[in-house]
Amino acid sequence: MGKKITDLVKIIIDSKKEIKIAADMTVGRGNDSKFLLENPQLIRLYGFDIQKEAENEAKNLIGPDPRFIFNLASHADVEKYIKEGIDLAIYNLGYLPRGNKEITTTYESTIQSLEKTLQLLNKEGIIILTIYPGHPAGKIESEQIEKYLANIDQKKYEITKITQPTRPHNPPYIIVIEKN
Ligand SMILES: C[S@@+](CC[C@H](N)C(=O)[O-])C[C@H]1O[C@@H](n2cnc3c(N)ncnc32)[C@H](O)[C@@H]1O
Repeated sequence: MGKKITDLVKIIIDSKKEIKIAADMTVGRGNDSKFLLENPQLIRLYGFDIQKEAENEAKNLIGPDPRFIFNLASHADVEKYIKEGIDLAIYNLGYLPRGNKEITTTYESTIQSLEKTLQLLNKEGIIILTIYPGHPAGKIESEQIEKYLANIDQKKYEITKITQPTRPHNPPYIIVIEKN
């Protein structure tokens, strides 16, 4: 049985030695945040989502954990909430599964957020994006993100793309950006 793209994200995160400060840019129901908080070395996790439903569900799932700082705010405004260097940021794009499909990430806010998060990354810090080109807005988002990344400073950042090309229907894929 092949690995799901979400399993691959976890493998990449587990391969990083030191993640002390992290950000979950799309908290949703909190599954990814919960996984990150399982790391005892983690000092702080900043979470962002624009839906109250996400805040409620994630806090319910995670329970009280003083390391988890949830912001009911757009990740496009990340610089207002994070005032320190970060080792990891994850974006799980698209809409909330079993939620309102109209509330989806957009390429405009995702790219705005990426620009700012690149500045916050510590040396050897990584950003992981899980991108879903299987729905129309996701296809546009994937194209625009790749266009944006094609122009970032190659000396400062290493970009890796992980795809599952034999899967049907424009499957999700991962982009990892590492700061040199
Ligand atoms: C695919 S879901 C995330 C799933 C989540 N990682 C989990 O483990 O359940 C995408 C989430 O991004 C959120 N979102 C959309 N636009 C956003 C924005 N500008 N800033 C922060 N979150 C946003 C949606 O509300 C939705 O909950």
